[in-house]
Amino acid sequence: MTNPMTVRSTATTPFPGQRPGTSGLRKKTRVFMEPGYVENFVQSVFNALAEDPEVDFGKEALVVGGDGRYFNRQAIQTIVRMAAANGFRRVLAARGGILSTPAMSAVIRRKGALGGFVLSASHNPGGIDADFGIKYNIRNGGPAPAAFTERIYAHTRSISRYRTLDWPDIDLDREATLAVDGCEVRVFDPLEEYVALMQELFDFDRLRGFLTGGFRMVFDAMHAVTGPYARRIFEDLLGAPAGTVLHATPLEDFGGEHPDPNLTHAAELVARMEAPEGPDFGAACDGDGDRNLILGRDFFVTPGDSLAIIAEHAQRAIPGYRGGLAGLARSMPTSTAADRVAEALGIPCYETPTGWKFFGNLMDAGLCTLCGEESFGTGSNHIREKDGLWAVLAWLSILEETRQPVSGVVKAHWRRFGRSYYQRHDYEGLDAATSTEMMDELRERLPHLPGQRLGAGEIIRADDFSYTDPVDGSTSSAQGIRIFLDDGSRVVCRLSGTGTEGATLRIYLESYRRDPVEDDIQAVLAPAAHGIRAMLHLEQRFDREEPDVVT
Ligand code: G1P
Ligand code: ZN
Repeated sequence: MTNPMTVRSTATTPFPGQRPGTSGLRKKTRVFMEPGYVENFVQSVFNALAEDPEVDFGKEALVVGGDGRYFNRQAIQTIVRMAAANGFRRVLAARGGILSTPAMSAVIRRKGALGGFVLSASHNPGGIDADFGIKYNIRNGGPAPAAFTERIYAHTRSISRYRTLDWPDIDLDREATLAVDGCEVRVFDPLEEYVALMQELFDFDRLRGFLTGGFRMVFDAMHAVTGPYARRIFEDLLGAPAGTVLHATPLEDFGGEHPDPNLTHAAELVARMEAPEGPDFGAACDGDGDRNLILGRDFFVTPGDSLAIIAEHAQRAIPGYRGGLAGLARSMPTSTAADRVAEALGIPCYETPTGWKFFGNLMDAGLCTLCGEESFGTGSNHIREKDGLWAVLAWLSILEETRQPVSGVVKAHWRRFGRSYYQRHDYEGLDAATSTEMMDELRERLPHLPGQRLGAGEIIRADDFSYTDPVDGSTSSAQGIRIFLDDGSRVVCRLSGTGTEGATLRIYLESYRRDPVEDDIQAVLAPAAHGIRAMLHLEQRFDREEPDVVT
């Protein structure tokens, strides 16, 4: 049923502040609900895409889905109508609107789509008074690179019209193929596609033997997108008992919680792991399924260690990596544990700015197989996003192969490579102007820092991290201030690029010990934490002593 009369070109005016950050456009839900807000941003993405003479929407497919949070479904309906009005040949909409970020990446790649919209604010809370976000992923399945998001932003500043249709909402809950004004809209189940990819990488038979042979795990889906995927994988396919997956039903407000898999927000999981006779292994994923938390019995694996340990064992423990690893990559603030494994394996380890988009080029060029960030993100070149469930399956494979408890695997790693004591301190809700001024001031002081003391050490080098992409030669500067001390520790400061209100200061502390006898991370890192606080005059500027969140 084609009816060209239904296409509408609607006049609009720009909204300020539609610049995508570390991971797409993030704002309060009510901001996204303003009439025209989603439309302006989506049309700006289409306009930026259309600048490429090679792109013909009439030959392309677009994927759309989200993490199920409040406003997910309405935004999907808007995007479906706009994609049809802009002449896309096909739109693939996830059933129920539920599509994890890693599954989005897998679907774009496997279906050869032009790209896709992920509707999510990741680990931030959902609801009408909480957060929402839109991220555009490109043909390689990864987040749009900075050069492209800047072009989107330029369009948002000059947009005057958007194209949409007068068309009723489609039924998102039934798998079907519909014609929406000449565009083929398919409501599909992304579970199968994602599960098939995991089966290509991991040995499901061995893992099933492991999980039905006495090894006990619990997985917390945090009322977010991974619930259905985790049930299928751990309970149906790997034979873990029903109830292994906690909080498995996606809810629009994530049950009123932060779907953020860390020791603070995954409190119920942590309590289960600490209980006497608790399970051997615990894990959780965030709102959109790209982050992961790995726990042993009464034991927390830092994301930096997790990446290093997966890299150390991948070739032996995971069939998908039998052929070896081409290289590793980590974001700059992430601990240097992966660097030491890369050195032992004789492969490079790339250091990139914060944000997954920087790994895409390395992977497309075949330079890197595994990568990760300190912010609970780990992944590989099977897709172009971090992948929470992939990390859980990787750990299960390592535990199956080594027959060691989680703590045993980590301690063996420390014995072999030494240990990076690591913490991130977040100061949230700071005044944005004061925070920017503080960072500018610190930047100006950089040349004078060497020789000064910070905590228990002396500063030997300080800079503002700048990255030149080895593949396309593009440079990203001002990516975080690094201060190196003579005792092997490092302090990094940067402002968050994903916040929706005020500013968040992140301070990353790392101290490397070859012989890690000390158990108390706090004791190792406290001097540097105090030192940087004093250097930034945090108390005078913001009246803050302690960080809001420590991870
Ligand atoms: C944060 C994390 C970063 C991650 C991003 C998206 O960004 O620090 O590692 O890639 O969320 O999940 P930030 O708020 O620090 O800019
Ligand atoms: Zn996320």
